[in-house]
Amino acid sequence: MKELRDKVAVITGAASGIGRATARRLGAQGMKLVVADVEGTALQETAHDLRRSGFEAHPVVADVTQADAVQGLARETLDSFGAVHVVFNNAGVFAGGTAWETTLADYEWVLGVNLWGVIHGLRSFVPILLEQGEPAHVVNTASMAAVTSAPLSGAYVMSKHAVLALSESLYHELRMKQAPIGVSVICPELIATGIGRSERNRPVHLKRSDGPQPAETEMVEDAIRTATAGGADPDVIAQRTLEAIREDRFYVLAPEGDPWRRACDLRLEDLRLARNPSQGGPVQ
Ligand SMILES: NC(=O)c1ccc[n+]([C@@H]2O[C@H](COP(=O)([O-])OP(=O)(O)OC[C@H]3O[C@@H](n4cnc5c(N)ncnc54)[C@H](O)[C@@H]3O)[C@@H](O)[C@H]2O)c1
Repeated sequence: MKELRDKVAVITGAASGIGRATARRLGAQGMKLVVADVEGTALQETAHDLRRSGFEAHPVVADVTQADAVQGLARETLDSFGAVHVVFNNAGVFAGGTAWETTLADYEWVLGVNLWGVIHGLRSFVPILLEQGEPAHVVNTASMAAVTSAPLSGAYVMSKHAVLALSESLYHELRMKQAPIGVSVICPELIATGIGRSERNRPVHLKRSDGPQPAETEMVEDAIRTATAGGADPDVIAQRTLEAIREDRFYVLAPEGDPWRRACDLRLEDLRLARNPSQGGPVQ
């Protein structure tokens, strides 16, 4: 999609991190922005900042785990700007732990946001894009976790593998329809965002019990907080996302040489040789 000026972008998880940075990048291209998030106060601040920078930004509080809320987001987008061209399904959360100790609430929350959020985004917005028949682009945020394997993060890793698989199906389907709609899957490495504080957005009905969590859960969640705090600036991903939209690139991976990119190569080699998984996590 070459021409972005005066086109409309919808971004979920836009009140923080990668979503907020990408809203700024797309705004700077002259796009009209619908910024959506479950965290109302942070969202209002984000919309305020964007407007102060001279961008047109309409905030919508929406929980992407809820089909009705995402349908409502699509309606509000059309009511505000009359069309939609870039749909960025980006909201995401992290919870860690072994596959057997991860609670049903943790599985439900992580899959609800990371996978069902994307499913609702596709079901609500792709029919609108097809109906419009104009150049458009769908961007789904996966992770380098989508192309690697890692212990103590099964719910998260599974959600991201599923987003990648769903996006590949979507890509083929849109080609079958000869639709002028591109698809990108963003697979970030470690980025300095609020993901290590995902608990702030956990709904009450899926809250954890008080007190310490299993040792491995605490360990991996601490590690994610530390590792992401030292990660790259979210604008790196915003810039990569912009290029992917412009150049119609599907796979948006960490650069060659990044430990997560090496982990991806190693996993692909394991698969090619039908060899047991060599290593979980980044390859230094
Ligand atoms: N930060 C990293 O290292 C990294 C790496 C790979 C992938 N990602 C992915 O990037 C995406 C963005 O995360 P981030 O790192 O910017 O974290 P972040 O916490 O800074 O931003 C995530 C945003 O999603 C919102 N959100 C959470 N639950 C929601 C819900 N139910 N409905 C709507 N919004 C909701 C949060 O309020 C927050 O504003 C996620 O999908 C994440 O999995 C992040």
